[in-house]
Amino acid sequence: MAIQRTFSIIKPDATKKNLIGKIIAHFEAEGIRICAMKKIHMTRGQAEGFYAVHSERPFFGELCDFMSSGPCVVMVLEGENVILRNREIMGATNPADAAEGTLRKLYADSIGNNAVHGSDAPETAAVEINYFFNAFELH
Ligand code: CMP
Repeated sequence: MAIQRTFSIIKPDATKKNLIGKIIAHFEAEGIRICAMKKIHMTRGQAEGFYAVHSERPFFGELCDFMSSGPCVVMVLEGENVILRNREIMGATNPADAAEGTLRKLYADSIGNNAVHGSDAPETAAVEINYFFNAFELH
């Protein structure tokens, strides 16, 4: 399996609870490298654009309100098979279903306020990385 890159967000619920360092420590402890990182506060329009694939879902409005409600940390993670590994580290979308030791089990409050986001496939990783970072910001 080749080295991959994936896109990760530490969501507003987690930044509000001072969990940025703890979450990054999970990635680094797994040997995952952070090749880009910044703290941002998305406008509602930016959140709508990022989650456009969910625009027909009943939770879309709530999701965009939440993602623009406070600062996030957006990151590009790099490592062997990192797209799948990051999803395993995060755990199930709904923290009630997440395995012990996963980020969402440890830190998420609900399916909406679920602490972290991670790309689900190479194609979405490329789109999501390009949404927030340009080539000069990836190291
Ligand atoms: P994320 O991995 O960022 O991708 C889409 C997000 O939509 C997901 O995490 C959840 O936070 C959110 N989401 C999914 N299903 C629901 C739901 N039923 N109610 C509220 N938010 C949801």
